[in-house]
Amino acid sequence: MQKVIVLDFGAQYGQLIARRVRDLHVYSEILPCDTPAAEIQAAKPSALILSGGPASVYAPDAPGLDPAVFDLGIPILGFCYGQQIMAKTLGGVVGHTEVGEYGPADIVRVSKSELLDGTPEKQTVWMSHRDSVAKVPSGFSITSSTAVCPVASMECAERKLYATQFHPEVRHTTYGTQMLSNFLFGVCGFEQSWSMDNLIDQLVDDVRAKVGEDRVILGLSGGVDSSVVGALCARAIGKQLTCVFVNHGLLRKDEPEQVEEVFTKQFDVDFVHVHAEDRYVELLEGVKDPEQKRKIIGTQFWEEFFTVAQQLDGVKYLAQGTIYPDIIESGARKTGGKASTIKSHHNLIPFPEGVSFDLIEPLDHFFKDEVRALGTALGLPDHIVWRQPFPGPGLAIRIIGDVTPEKLEILKNADAVVREELDAYNTRLFEQTGLRNSEHSCWQYFAVLPDIKSVGVMGDERTYQRPVIIRAVESTDAMTADWAKLPYDVLGKISSRIVAEVPGVNRVVYDITPKPPGTVEWE
Ligand code: XMP
Repeated sequence: MQKVIVLDFGAQYGQLIARRVRDLHVYSEILPCDTPAAEIQAAKPSALILSGGPASVYAPDAPGLDPAVFDLGIPILGFCYGQQIMAKTLGGVVGHTEVGEYGPADIVRVSKSELLDGTPEKQTVWMSHRDSVAKVPSGFSITSSTAVCPVASMECAERKLYATQFHPEVRHTTYGTQMLSNFLFGVCGFEQSWSMDNLIDQLVDDVRAKVGEDRVILGLSGGVDSSVVGALCARAIGKQLTCVFVNHGLLRKDEPEQVEEVFTKQFDVDFVHVHAEDRYVELLEGVKDPEQKRKIIGTQFWEEFFTVAQQLDGVKYLAQGTIYPDIIESGARKTGGKASTIKSHHNLIPFPEGVSFDLIEPLDHFFKDEVRALGTALGLPDHIVWRQPFPGPGLAIRIIGDVTPEKLEILKNADAVVREELDAYNTRLFEQTGLRNSEHSCWQYFAVLPDIKSVGVMGDERTYQRPVIIRAVESTDAMTADWAKLPYDVLGKISSRIVAEVPGVNRVVYDITPKPPGTVEWE
């Protein structure tokens, strides 16, 4: 398959560009900016994109690139720092602009441009820079300027080298997508071959070819990634797959039943439901410290999983729901590609003595939203595909203090009300905006049970019961978050339903703390 390699000059900049390229149905991968040209050539890209980055090209530790990439004879597009490093490497000059530009800016076309073709003479782009190109390398022409930035974009069509000081990958650049399309389809002649529907056959063939007649085991958590791996392997190898679902009793109301329903009725795999609820209650009894809870839950998960694994005959492979950001963010690629990736993941799993599996990670080249699209294409229901982020330790870290069956029951019921009402609220917003997870909707929402009781009155009787905390946040990546500005009537309905429907609760409060300083979860 034809592909674009994005050379990343600053953590996270490359991911956004790769996402945009894939949105246009062209496959894109990210490599560190200093990857040697020979290694890049061996990966056979049909084009390169040089990302932006936070550094100045003249800083002593400025990220560099192998100048030989410009001799590979493939089209190259640079954004921001990518333009500056292209200019500097090819003999141009980068200088400090009197005033930097941050935010929207108007560019004006100053010469014919393949990159800007079909976009207006004057248009708004997104800038974020202090340095900029003062003199373009020989053979290049300036294609647009702003009032303070003479080289807002430049190109050398003969060598198929293009660059912009602004960020076409950012939505605020009105015609950014058009520019990216001009590069991918006009300059490079790509075909639109990256689409989830087309890919399933390929992925299924890959799993079959790798697994052959062997058996595969998969730990299903109820989450999106492991479910999509399950659905994919089910299609590829059917009953050669054993899905082990460790039910720790800490999932949300009805979730274990939903997982079982999907993987027994919808997919024809070998499904093992490990009922470990009582063992978890026992292990967690009296444990108040959040980190200790996490440790107990994680360790016991693998205990339960390997107990099943060791009872099965002839399992050669362990399937995992590793996705592309896990690999990029763990830096695995920087230390030598796939081989080291497999090792680092192996290291995370406490394999018992004498047990070893080969890994299959069919989603390791996919971003989260692509994984969701694959899930839908494979027939997984929306409640799995669009499941909110949910912590591995489950409800145990939403019960402050020790976990008991009584508290779990209260939290499950209160949480079900929060989710039901906010699912409906999000659906209404989705119908209005057509956007899921838009900045106006709620991104993650749940109930928390604190370790206190307070006085209330119900009917004519004094009560001394538990409060429930509603946590609902807007976010895109959970790194930062803000509390959702929910309408009062939505909050009011959640409150009255919880106190009416959940025995043991007499008060409902709303957490209005952003992250930072709060975290999304309470433990
Ligand atoms: P915090 O609470 O750190 O959460 O702001 C950020 C995001 O991560 C999720 N989260 C976890 N996920 N294991 C997980 O798999 C955990 O221990 C864990 N703790 C928090 C949280 O739900 C939020 O989406």
